Order: sequence, then C-alpha cells, then structure tokens
Amino acid sequence: APDIPVANVTAHLNQLQSIASGNGGNRASGTAGYTASLNYIKGRLDAAGYQTRTQSFTLSGRTHTNLIADWPGGPANQTVMLGAHLDSVPAGPGVNDNGSGSSTLLEVALAVSAERPTLTKHVRFAWWAAEESGLNGSTYYVQNGGAAGVEAYLNFDMTGSPNPGYFVYDDDRTIEGHFKEFYASINVPTEIETEGDGRSDHAPFKNAGVRVGGVFTGASNIKTSAQAAKWGGTAGQAFDRCYHSACDTTGNVNATALDRNADAAAHVLWRLAAGDTPPPV
Ligand code: PHE
Ligand code: CA
Ligand code: ZN
Ligand code: ZN
Ligand code: ZN
Repeated sequence: APDIPVANVTAHLNQLQSIASGNGGNRASGTAGYTASLNYIKGRLDAAGYQTRTQSFTLSGRTHTNLIADWPGGPANQTVMLGAHLDSVPAGPGVNDNGSGSSTLLEVALAVSAERPTLTKHVRFAWWAAEESGLNGSTYYVQNGGAAGVEAYLNFDMTGSPNPGYFVYDDDRTIEGHFKEFYASINVPTEIETEGDGRSDHAPFKNAGVRVGGVFTGASNIKTSAQAAKWGGTAGQAFDRCYHSACDTTGNVNATALDRNADAAAHVLWRLAAGDTPPPV
C-alpha cells in the first residue's frame, strides 16, 4: 500500500480551515461552509477521474448533502467503502472533528487514482452530512439502499487529535486485525475504541449487517498516565481539549497521528480491495 504524504493531508486541512474562516467560522451541515467544503473535495475527485454524485435530504428546514465517489472498476456487488463526516459543529471549524477524516479520505482516494491498483473489490468513498446532529447523512444513505453490495465499511472520525491515542474499532475481527497489523508494523501500541462506541457513521452500516471498522484518536476523555507512557503526550489532559469547540483549528491536529492513520487507511484498503498485494498471513 502507498505511504500517504501527510503534507498533502495537511494541505486539505488548511483548505477546510480557510473555508470555515470565510464562512462564519464553521462548516456545519446545511451552511455555506459545508457546501464549500463539499465543492472542494468534489472538485479534486472529479479531476482525478472519480464518478461523484451528491445525495440531498431535508432536515429541520435545511438541505443536507452527502458526497459519494466511486472509483470505476471492480465488481459492483462487492464494494469496500470508506466514509468520514464532512460537517463540523456550529461552534467551530471542525479541523480535527472531522476535517482530519475527510482530508485523509480525499488523499487516500487520490492515491488510488494515482496508483491504479488491480482491484478485487469495487471501491467507494463517502463524505457524510449532518453527522453532528445524529448520524443523519449516513443513516439516510443506508435507509435508501446504500449498503447494498457493501462488504466492508471503514470509518474515519477524528484521526489527528492533538494529544492522541490510537484506538481501533473492535467490530469486525478481520478489519480490526488489518488495522492492528499496520500498527504493529510501525511499533505503535493500540487500544480498543470505547469512547465513541456507536457514535459515528459506521453505526448505521453495522446495524444493516455490514462489517465495519475504523480508527480514532480520542475526544474529550482524559489520557491516563499509562496511555501517556506508551503513546507520549500529556497525562491528565483530554485527547482533544478543543473537541466541539471554536479552537478546533489547524493548530489542533497532531501531524504524526494524522500521518499514521492515513497510512493505516491505505494499508487496510489495499488489504481488502487490491489484488496486487500478497494475501495476509
Ligand atoms: N462522532 C463523534 C463526533 O463527531 C466522535 C466519535 C468519533 C465517536 C469516533 C465515535 C468514533 O463528535
Ligand atoms: Ca505517510
Ligand atoms: Zn463531533
Ligand atoms: Zn466526529
Ligand atoms: Zn492484515
């Protein structure tokens, strides 16, 4: 799998920050900051050869829009899907939550288009609307048949927390194993994700019977001294002290965590969908 250049992920984050700054300080679903975020990502995907579409729905008097991007090729009824919510809370720009996952997926998608691996599965990416008001974009997608043919769904929500932990979802064992295999290869210990259990866009897929997985670097929970001993950072402080706040800016991201999780995403995608890597042992 390719090594994702973290500088490219950071460049997307800077774009999302400047979009928020130019639109009242946030990128909340149903606002101009959200639309500009979607247009930025869609423009990059269209230029790279993706088949993109938007899916809109109405909630509380506003229009909310998911972005779906298919990479042409692979068996359509055997799809590996990666998703991240693109909306922020109204309180701030949402650079870690969830510019991090959104930018990571864009760069992984661009790596697919650059490398053009032989695919044993169809590959699809999604950027969800209205996660922060209750997983609404992903739920709408699944309720309208979106999970059909989806064999695995990987979720990326908060992957660059400033005082990071390395948490792997313990949902599907095979997917969990691929993430853990990547972290073992770089000698970074992981823990099972518990803080956000069921609180992100993998939940509707899991409830529909799809195998799910993902990684997370922590939100408002406090890093213990044992966690600081193995991961570095500051014990007694939240993983993300700016969670859902105005200070969730470009200064609120740990580049090492962002890089590792982007590389992990590429590793797991290649393991699940690319035919030109050796099978896992
Ligand atoms: N969905 C939560 C939020 O956006 C945080 C979260 C991340 C929960 C990852 C679970 C897993 O605020
Ligand atoms: Ca990298
Ligand atoms: Zn959030
Ligand atoms: Zn989130
Ligand atoms: Zn593996």
